[in-house]
Amino acid sequence: MKKLQDKILSDGKVLSESVLKVDSFLNHQIDPPLMQAIGEEFALRFKNEGITKILTIESSGIAPAMMTGLVLGVPAVFARKRKSLTLIDHMYTASVHSFTKNETNDISVSKDFINKDDVVLILDDFLANGQAALGLLDIVEQAGAKLAGIGIVIEKGFQPGGALLRDKGIRVETLAHIASLENGQVTFLGEGDAQ
Ligand code: G4P
Repeated sequence: MKKLQDKILSDGKVLSESVLKVDSFLNHQIDPPLMQAIGEEFALRFKNEGITKILTIESSGIAPAMMTGLVLGVPAVFARKRKSLTLIDHMYTASVHSFTKNETNDISVSKDFINKDDVVLILDDFLANGQAALGLLDIVEQAGAKLAGIGIVIEKGFQPGGALLRDKGIRVETLAHIASLENGQVTFLGEGDAQ
Protein backbone atom coordinates (compact mmCIF):
# COMPACT_ATOMS: atom_id res chain seq x y z
CA MET A 1 0.00 0.00 0.00
CA LYS A 2 1.89 2.99 -1.34
CA LYS A 3 0.36 5.66 0.91
CA LEU A 4 1.39 3.70 4.03
CA GLN A 5 4.87 2.96 2.71
CA ASP A 6 5.38 6.66 1.95
CA LYS A 7 4.26 7.57 5.48
CA ILE A 8 6.67 5.03 6.98
CA LEU A 9 9.51 6.47 4.90
CA SER A 10 8.69 10.08 5.78
CA ASP A 11 7.63 9.78 9.43
CA GLY A 12 8.88 6.39 10.71
CA LYS A 13 12.09 6.20 12.72
CA VAL A 14 14.39 3.20 12.59
CA LEU A 15 15.44 2.69 16.21
CA SER A 16 17.56 -0.40 15.58
CA GLU A 17 17.90 -3.23 13.07
CA SER A 18 14.71 -4.74 14.48
CA VAL A 19 12.53 -1.87 15.72
CA LEU A 20 10.63 0.74 13.72
CA LYS A 21 9.03 3.62 15.62
CA VAL A 22 5.74 4.80 14.13
CA ASP A 23 4.20 6.57 17.08
CA SER A 24 3.50 9.78 15.12
CA PHE A 25 0.75 8.07 13.08
CA LEU A 26 -0.05 4.59 14.45
CA ASN A 27 1.17 3.74 17.95
CA HIS A 28 0.53 6.95 19.91
CA GLN A 29 -0.70 9.84 17.76
CA ILE A 30 -3.10 8.48 15.12
CA ASP A 31 -3.50 9.76 11.56
CA PRO A 32 -7.24 9.42 10.81
CA PRO A 33 -7.12 9.79 6.98
CA LEU A 34 -4.37 7.17 6.85
CA MET A 35 -6.41 4.87 9.12
CA GLN A 36 -9.38 5.38 6.81
CA ALA A 37 -7.28 4.38 3.78
CA ILE A 38 -6.01 1.34 5.72
CA GLY A 39 -9.58 0.35 6.56
CA GLU A 40 -10.61 0.68 2.92
CA GLU A 41 -7.68 -1.44 1.78
CA PHE A 42 -8.34 -4.28 4.26
CA ALA A 43 -12.05 -4.15 3.42
CA LEU A 44 -11.25 -4.43 -0.30
CA ARG A 45 -8.93 -7.39 0.21
CA PHE A 46 -11.40 -9.32 2.39
CA LYS A 47 -14.71 -8.15 0.91
CA ASN A 48 -15.75 -11.58 -0.40
CA GLU A 49 -15.18 -13.50 2.83
CA GLY A 50 -18.51 -12.85 4.54
CA ILE A 51 -16.81 -11.30 7.57
CA THR A 52 -19.07 -10.62 10.56
CA LYS A 53 -16.48 -9.45 13.15
CA ILE A 54 -13.08 -7.81 13.25
CA LEU A 55 -10.90 -9.01 16.15
CA THR A 56 -7.84 -7.11 17.33
CA ILE A 57 -5.86 -6.48 20.52
CA GLU A 58 -5.55 -3.26 22.48
CA SER A 59 -4.26 -0.69 22.00
CA SER A 60 -2.72 0.00 18.61
CA GLY A 61 -4.85 -2.50 16.69
CA ILE A 62 -8.04 -0.63 17.57
CA ALA A 63 -7.77 2.26 15.08
CA PRO A 64 -7.22 0.15 11.94
CA ALA A 65 -9.77 -2.42 13.17
CA MET A 66 -12.43 0.23 13.71
CA MET A 67 -11.90 1.77 10.27
CA THR A 68 -12.06 -1.65 8.61
CA GLY A 69 -15.22 -2.48 10.55
CA LEU A 70 -16.72 0.83 9.45
CA VAL A 71 -16.11 0.07 5.76
CA LEU A 72 -17.26 -3.56 6.02
CA GLY A 73 -20.23 -2.61 8.20
CA VAL A 74 -19.34 -5.00 11.03
CA PRO A 75 -18.31 -4.54 14.70
CA ALA A 76 -14.68 -4.41 15.80
CA VAL A 77 -13.87 -6.29 19.02
CA PHE A 78 -10.60 -5.78 20.87
CA ALA A 79 -9.01 -8.30 23.19
CA ARG A 80 -8.19 -6.75 26.54
CA LYS A 81 -4.81 -7.17 28.15
CA ARG A 82 -6.12 -6.50 31.65
CA LYS A 83 -8.72 -8.62 33.32
CA SER A 84 -12.20 -7.16 33.38
CA LEU A 85 -13.66 -6.72 36.85
CA THR A 86 -17.20 -7.44 35.74
CA LEU A 87 -17.09 -10.33 33.28
CA ILE A 88 -14.44 -12.72 34.61
CA ASP A 89 -16.48 -15.90 34.19
CA HIS A 90 -17.70 -15.12 30.76
CA MET A 91 -14.45 -14.67 28.84
CA TYR A 92 -12.29 -16.48 26.34
CA THR A 93 -8.68 -16.10 27.47
CA ALA A 94 -5.28 -16.81 25.91
CA SER A 95 -1.68 -16.21 26.87
CA VAL A 96 0.48 -13.96 24.70
CA HIS A 97 4.21 -13.86 25.20
CA SER A 98 6.07 -10.83 23.85
CA PHE A 99 9.68 -11.62 22.96
CA THR A 100 10.23 -7.91 22.30
CA LYS A 101 9.09 -6.86 25.77
CA ASN A 102 9.90 -10.14 27.53
CA GLU A 103 6.54 -10.32 29.25
CA THR A 104 3.47 -12.53 29.07
CA ASN A 105 -0.02 -11.07 29.06
CA ASP A 106 -3.31 -12.87 29.47
CA ILE A 107 -5.69 -11.50 26.87
CA SER A 108 -9.45 -11.86 27.09
CA VAL A 109 -12.58 -11.38 25.01
CA SER A 110 -16.16 -11.61 26.26
CA LYS A 111 -18.14 -14.60 25.02
CA ASP A 112 -20.92 -12.11 24.23
CA PHE A 113 -19.03 -10.76 21.25
CA ILE A 114 -17.71 -13.76 19.28
CA ASN A 115 -19.51 -17.04 18.73
CA LYS A 116 -19.61 -20.04 16.41
CA ASP A 117 -21.66 -18.21 13.79
CA ASP A 118 -19.01 -15.53 13.29
CA VAL A 119 -16.57 -15.21 10.41
CA VAL A 120 -13.64 -13.34 11.93
CA LEU A 121 -10.95 -11.14 10.42
CA ILE A 122 -8.01 -10.75 12.82
CA LEU A 123 -6.19 -7.42 12.48
CA ASP A 124 -3.09 -6.03 14.16
CA ASP A 125 -0.72 -3.12 13.74
CA PHE A 126 2.58 -5.05 13.77
CA LEU A 127 3.53 -8.62 12.96
CA ALA A 128 6.89 -9.53 14.46
CA ASN A 129 7.04 -12.91 16.18
CA GLY A 130 3.36 -13.64 15.66
CA GLN A 131 2.51 -14.26 19.29
CA ALA A 132 -0.34 -11.73 19.45
CA ALA A 133 -1.88 -13.19 16.29
CA LEU A 134 -1.59 -16.73 17.73
CA GLY A 135 -3.35 -15.60 20.91
CA LEU A 136 -6.20 -14.08 18.88
CA LEU A 137 -6.36 -17.24 16.76
CA ASP A 138 -6.69 -19.28 19.95
CA ILE A 139 -9.69 -17.14 20.94
CA VAL A 140 -11.34 -17.58 17.52
CA GLU A 141 -10.89 -21.36 17.91
CA GLN A 142 -12.32 -21.36 21.45
CA ALA A 143 -15.37 -19.53 20.10
CA GLY A 144 -15.78 -22.12 17.33
CA ALA A 145 -15.86 -19.22 14.84
CA LYS A 146 -14.48 -19.32 11.31
CA LEU A 147 -11.27 -17.44 10.53
CA ALA A 148 -11.30 -15.46 7.26
CA GLY A 149 -7.68 -14.40 7.56
CA ILE A 150 -5.28 -12.02 9.23
CA GLY A 151 -4.63 -8.43 8.19
CA ILE A 152 -1.42 -6.73 9.29
CA VAL A 153 -0.57 -3.06 8.90
CA ILE A 154 3.23 -3.47 9.15
CA GLU A 155 4.95 -6.84 8.89
CA LYS A 156 8.60 -7.23 9.73
CA GLY A 157 9.43 -9.97 7.23
CA PHE A 158 12.80 -10.68 8.81
CA GLN A 159 11.08 -11.92 11.98
CA PRO A 160 9.32 -15.30 12.09
CA GLY A 161 5.64 -14.39 12.63
CA GLY A 162 4.59 -14.23 8.98
CA ALA A 163 6.02 -17.63 8.09
CA LEU A 164 4.59 -19.16 11.29
CA LEU A 165 1.06 -18.09 10.35
CA ARG A 166 1.28 -18.77 6.58
CA ASP A 167 2.68 -22.24 7.28
CA LYS A 168 -0.60 -22.99 9.06
CA GLY A 169 -2.40 -22.24 5.79
CA ILE A 170 -3.76 -18.94 7.08
CA ARG A 171 -4.28 -16.09 4.61
CA VAL A 172 -2.15 -13.20 5.86
CA GLU A 173 -2.52 -9.83 4.11
CA THR A 174 0.12 -7.22 4.85
CA LEU A 175 -0.10 -3.56 3.85
CA ALA A 176 3.58 -2.68 4.37
CA HIS A 177 5.96 -5.60 4.31
CA ILE A 178 9.40 -4.63 5.57
CA ALA A 179 12.33 -6.71 4.35
CA SER A 180 15.01 -4.99 6.40
CA LEU A 181 15.78 -2.14 8.80
CA GLU A 182 19.53 -2.42 8.32
CA ASN A 183 21.76 0.69 8.18
CA GLY A 184 18.97 2.87 9.54
CA GLN A 185 16.97 2.36 6.32
CA VAL A 186 13.53 0.90 5.74
CA THR A 187 13.55 -1.52 2.80
CA PHE A 188 10.24 -2.94 1.64
CA LEU A 189 9.81 -6.41 0.22
CA GLY A 190 9.78 -6.38 -3.59
CA GLU A 191 9.51 -3.37 -5.85
CA GLY A 192 7.07 -0.53 -5.18
CA ASP A 193 3.92 -1.71 -3.47
CA ALA A 194 4.75 -4.76 -1.37
CA GLN A 195 2.35 -7.70 -1.06
P1 G4P B 1 4.36 -10.44 18.18
O1 G4P B 1 3.02 -10.18 18.77
O2 G4P B 1 4.34 -10.43 16.65
O3 G4P B 1 5.00 -11.67 18.73
O4 G4P B 1 5.24 -9.19 18.53
P2 G4P B 1 6.15 -8.81 19.77
O5 G4P B 1 5.80 -9.61 20.96
O6 G4P B 1 7.53 -8.83 19.26
O7 G4P B 1 5.63 -7.32 19.97
C1 G4P B 1 5.09 -6.84 21.17
C2 G4P B 1 4.59 -5.44 21.01
O8 G4P B 1 5.54 -4.64 20.29
C3 G4P B 1 3.31 -5.30 20.23
O9 G4P B 1 2.66 -4.13 20.66
C4 G4P B 1 3.81 -5.06 18.81
O10 G4P B 1 2.84 -4.42 18.01
C5 G4P B 1 4.98 -4.18 19.07
N1 G4P B 1 6.05 -4.21 18.09
C6 G4P B 1 6.77 -5.27 17.64
N2 G4P B 1 7.72 -4.84 16.79
C7 G4P B 1 7.60 -3.49 16.70
C8 G4P B 1 8.31 -2.48 15.99
O11 G4P B 1 9.27 -2.71 15.23
N3 G4P B 1 7.87 -1.22 16.17
C9 G4P B 1 6.82 -0.89 16.97
N4 G4P B 1 6.48 0.39 17.04
N5 G4P B 1 6.14 -1.81 17.68
C10 G4P B 1 6.54 -3.10 17.53
P3 G4P B 1 1.88 -4.03 22.04
O12 G4P B 1 2.74 -4.32 23.20
O13 G4P B 1 0.66 -4.86 21.92
O14 G4P B 1 1.58 -2.50 22.08
P4 G4P B 1 0.32 -1.64 21.72
O15 G4P B 1 -0.55 -2.39 20.75
O16 G4P B 1 -0.38 -1.39 23.02
O17 G4P B 1 0.87 -0.41 21.08
